[in-house]
Amino acid sequence: MNARVSAVSAVDEELRRWLLACWTDVSNAGGAVGFVPPVTPDEVAPVLDALIGRVEQGREVLAVLEVDGARAGFAVLSLSQSPLRQHWATVLRVQVHPDLQGEGLGRVLLAGVHDLARARGLEFLHLTVRGGTGIESFYERLGYREFGRMAGAIRVAPGDDRDELHLTCRL
Ligand SMILES: CC(C)(COP(=O)(O)OP(=O)(O)OC[C@H]1O[C@@H](n2cnc3c(N)ncnc32)[C@H](O)[C@@H]1OP(=O)(O)O)[C@@H](O)C(=O)NCCC(=O)NCCS
Repeated sequence: MNARVSAVSAVDEELRRWLLACWTDVSNAGGAVGFVPPVTPDEVAPVLDALIGRVEQGREVLAVLEVDGARAGFAVLSLSQSPLRQHWATVLRVQVHPDLQGEGLGRVLLAGVHDLARARGLEFLHLTVRGGTGIESFYERLGYREFGRMAGAIRVAPGDDRDELHLTCRL
């Protein structure tokens, strides 16, 4: 298996279509990446287009995972605009396509994100996890530690409020 993670700064229509399909499929498979299933591409598209706009402005880094030449997942590094916060970034939207989950590719994707972050001189990363998903243990295996949680920050449905867990990882 030949897997690589690259930073993409220009998103053409073909890549946009793939990102939209991946994000929609991951969300509908129960992934905790900003939506609650069921979602349609029309609901994901404006959020994706805003992301692409920030990537084009250099405010976010889009990291795309390819396996044997085919796209398999992506993640985003959100850079701070504050001059006081140039030494770290927030990781968002970490996802591997549902057809390919559970094969070690999430680990490869995160390792690639860490390499991109180090190459930019970042010293540590921050991310949040939706409580009740158990996904924090995926990140803890990769060196992240929970440092806090905001009770009830995520309302996935009326009467189903989840904590938002905050994790950090030294690079
Ligand atoms: C989370 C995600 C990126 C992990 O990718 P993956 O390719 O399935 O994970 P890997 O096969 O690389 O697993 C690496 C390790 O994490 C563990 N792990 C993976 N997903 C996990 C989960 N949801 N909960 C707990 N542990 C998990 C694996 O068991 C494995 O453990 P090991 O080191 O003991 O073998 C992927 O499942 C995904 O895209 N999920 C949907 C989107 C999502 O919710 N993203 C998280 C946003 S915070």
